[in-house]
Amino acid sequence: MAASRNETVRHLVANAPISRDVVKRFVAGESTAEAVEVVRGLGLPVTLDYLGEDTRDEAQAERTVQAYLELLDALHAAGLAVNAEVSVKLSAVGQSLDEALALTNASRICAAAEQCGTTVTLDMEDHTTTDSTLRVLHELRRSWPWVGAVLQSYLHRTLDDCKALSGPGSRVRLVKGAYAEPAEVAIQDPSEVDLNYVRCLNVLLAGEGYPMFATHDPRLIEIIGERARWYDKTDFEYQMLYGIRTEEQRRLGTRVYVPYGEQWYGYLMRRLAERPANVTFFLRSLASR
Ligand code: FDA
Repeated sequence: MAASRNETVRHLVANAPISRDVVKRFVAGESTAEAVEVVRGLGLPVTLDYLGEDTRDEAQAERTVQAYLELLDALHAAGLAVNAEVSVKLSAVGQSLDEALALTNASRICAAAEQCGTTVTLDMEDHTTTDSTLRVLHELRRSWPWVGAVLQSYLHRTLDDCKALSGPGSRVRLVKGAYAEPAEVAIQDPSEVDLNYVRCLNVLLAGEGYPMFATHDPRLIEIIGERARWYDKTDFEYQMLYGIRTEEQRRLGTRVYVPYGEQWYGYLMRRLAERPANVTFFLRSLASR
């Protein structure tokens, strides 16, 4: 995780031509055109994430909005928009500058998505942003009831948030959570995080919304299948990250979260940190050229 914030490592990785293949395993490219090509090739439903996180710069937030508008146009023109929604980090469209600006910017992306016949899901970032993100979600859903949210099973609050968001029309992507969070707000024991995931998935499957189970965990995937049969629920989906368990993605027909854009470095380092085998894969590819 330290590498994701280390400028020397960033420079090394970004400038080694050999890294490109490895980056390509997890990131769809830097440009809109490359992202659209990957979507076309995958043949699975996707959600696209234009990479870029916290900005306090209004002009940068505007560039992110423009990137999403360009992407939605390109997906529509390619006839791919129906199966390709977008995921947006509010911090990338100005949340830490001004929540109202993030709401305005996210509204512009939602309006464009509606025109293209697709949807938007708000990513969830660290716990200091959860209340703000859910407030923005609430406002967006007044105009676009299909806007989705991500809830993280490692947070103590999430079971209650699942209950609040399990009503008709609601779209919730349930994940374990990817940020380093303190014990006051988050469960620290990984098996307890899994247990809370199961509690949350039960609430979402018993509810009237559309659950989106985003995990690569085979045990949880099996439980989701069993519980869905128990609740007789068929309107839900599985989701996984681009480049991870690709065979399983095809078997389950998952929606694939496809990141792209120039700011791929932090995202790649987080994926490598999550799984030692990915680091081995990365180092082997560096050594083999
Ligand atoms: P975990 O990492 O515990 O892995 C469980 C098991 O899955 C492993 O033991 C292994 O069997 C299998 N597995 C995992 N990685 C594998 C690999 N590379 N190859 C083979 N098997 C592998 N987080 C967040 O905080 N906010 C967000 O908005 C999002 N958004 C999001 C969207 C989507 C679509 C996904 C899939 C994930 C997110 N996340 C996220 C990230 C999420 O919180 C979490 O960090 C990762 O999904 C990893 O957690 P898993 O549930 O996969 O389990």
